[in-house]
Amino acid sequence: METKLIKIDNVKGQRDALHAAGELIRSGEVVAFPTETVYGLGANGLDADACAKIYQAKGRPSDNPLILHVANRSMIDQVAAAIPDKAEKLLAAFCPGPITLILPRRSLVPDRITGGLSTVGVRMPEHDVARALIAAAGVPIAAPSANISGRPSPTTAEAVLTDMDGKIPLILDGGSCDFGVESTIVDAVGDKAVILRPGAITKEMLEEVLGAGNVIIDPALVGKDSVPRAPGMKYTHYAPKAPLTLIEGMPTRMVRAFRQEISRLQAAGHTVGVMASHEVLQELADIVPRELMADYGHQGKLPAIAANIYEALRSFDDKEADVLLGEGTTAAGLGLAIMNRLHKASGFRSIQA
Ligand code: TXA
Ligand code: MG
Repeated sequence: METKLIKIDNVKGQRDALHAAGELIRSGEVVAFPTETVYGLGANGLDADACAKIYQAKGRPSDNPLILHVANRSMIDQVAAAIPDKAEKLLAAFCPGPITLILPRRSLVPDRITGGLSTVGVRMPEHDVARALIAAAGVPIAAPSANISGRPSPTTAEAVLTDMDGKIPLILDGGSCDFGVESTIVDAVGDKAVILRPGAITKEMLEEVLGAGNVIIDPALVGKDSVPRAPGMKYTHYAPKAPLTLIEGMPTRMVRAFRQEISRLQAAGHTVGVMASHEVLQELADIVPRELMADYGHQGKLPAIAANIYEALRSFDDKEADVLLGEGTTAAGLGLAIMNRLHKASGFRSIQA
């Protein structure tokens, strides 16, 4: 099928285009759309057959549940059987925004999208195109990130087109995503709120609302031994086409560690690509050609790095490197989300600087 790409830069002025997109969703088709985190691949969340097309287009394992995108509180009540106290507080503090809440589900939500779980992930995006699309569709929109399963999530409409051309009828282009990493997933059903996937709403921000001691990180995210509670977190993910190794540690030791590892790999006959901060790349100009570099922003500027990492990883699709080295960041604050994605993109291969 032909994939149409429509630029939406004025939600109010482009009501007709959004109405048509909502109509496509209602009729059981798949539409890609921007959110403030990453682009989503949306279908009617109450229609199991429509959602099957999402799995098909992504090549996604069928046991990996989809999250539902809603425009307002009454849509949450439509799909969630209850809203526990902690979830209520998080809703008030962070919604709409880059957070997904795991809630007990209603039976109206098809088994096909929850992977048979008794819960459902619910997210209220803030992006005006996402909100307008959900409103136009009039139904909760099930949407995973709009990448082929296992690839870095798309943060531009062009990246969606790269993965989805010919597979879906429509992509709404709303420009680059602000945050660049997927929403924080929080299971607030139990005694403590559990972060199942770190994101732009950090542990520190959750603690401010729920109290320190009431927020924990799913232990499976820090070790790789136990099984994560978000089914999707167990898969290799966000991976560029060439294998990536991270260099982690103190910023002051980075350049030396990169130089050593680059020399070793080049001596072994490899063409080395490097994804790193502006500051580190500057110091490598004599041994790495510009076209094999991806600059992810200034060292320590975490919001910009988060917004750039997926595009930086994807940029190696068109570069000749057969091995990649990437610079790690701190794991504090937003760094937890960044390092989670980088560890997964690298299959946990890393070198200590
Ligand atoms: O920012 C985002 O969350 C983006 C945008 C498009 O909204 N969406 C996104 O969806 O990242 P996806 O499908 O790529 O990631 C959702 C994650 C998966 O790891 C899935 O396993 C997990 O949420 N998940 C979904 N339902 C769940 C549930 N009931 N319990 C635990 N984890 C769940
Ligand atoms: Mg995803």
